[in-house]
Amino acid sequence: MVKIAPSILTCDFSDLTQEIRKVEKENVDMLHLDIMDGHFVPNISFGPMVVKSLRPKTDLFFDVHLMIENADEFLVPFSEAGADLITVHIETCRDLKNTLNKIKSLGKKVGVCLNPDTPVEKVVKFLPELDIVMLMSVFPGFGGQGFIDSVLKKIEKLKAIREKDKLNLDIEVDGGINIKTAAQAVFSGADILVVGSAIYQAENLGQTIKYLKNLSH
Ligand code: DX5
Ligand code: ZN
Repeated sequence: MVKIAPSILTCDFSDLTQEIRKVEKENVDMLHLDIMDGHFVPNISFGPMVVKSLRPKTDLFFDVHLMIENADEFLVPFSEAGADLITVHIETCRDLKNTLNKIKSLGKKVGVCLNPDTPVEKVVKFLPELDIVMLMSVFPGFGGQGFIDSVLKKIEKLKAIREKDKLNLDIEVDGGINIKTAAQAVFSGADILVVGSAIYQAENLGQTIKYLKNLSH
């Protein structure tokens, strides 16, 4: 069964605990926390202080997606705030191997994210180090954007490499996932779906999550 990682980016920020409760009740697999700095992406979201204050409110696994220029400087703060998985963008890291080692030394799971125009080939040599590769299916910065279809080929390519090299990593897809695009992503090989607006703007949040969870490879 595919794993669902709701993104709180488009939820009601004035009542985050309650918004998290809504998805927690539906037995989602993790919570996706989008960290934006206004430099790497044209939007600002929230930082380690918010993550820290959410930590005691839920037992959900915290999937922290760093869309920031200077990720290295924030690994310790997000780790101490309660991240379980820290994902950095390949486009922002000068010495990715070193960044990945730092995340691991903090005892966290480690992920690398690729923008829609970054080819899968760029991440291949790092794959043995990774728990997750996240493929963006929108240009990061905002929730509610349209799914970029070309990610489907990248999912397939990554899945084939994983099989060939017998690697143990999950493929996470982030951006523009709704009932239609979720099926396409899962069919191509996605293991984890990040879903923001399709959950938080759904008429029936519970039914939407149930439907998404039941998509299988
Ligand atoms: C985009 C973020 C995503 C996004 C998901 O910059 O990384 O996590 O908010 O939201 P939807 O599902 O609305 O595209
Ligand atoms: Zn994200």
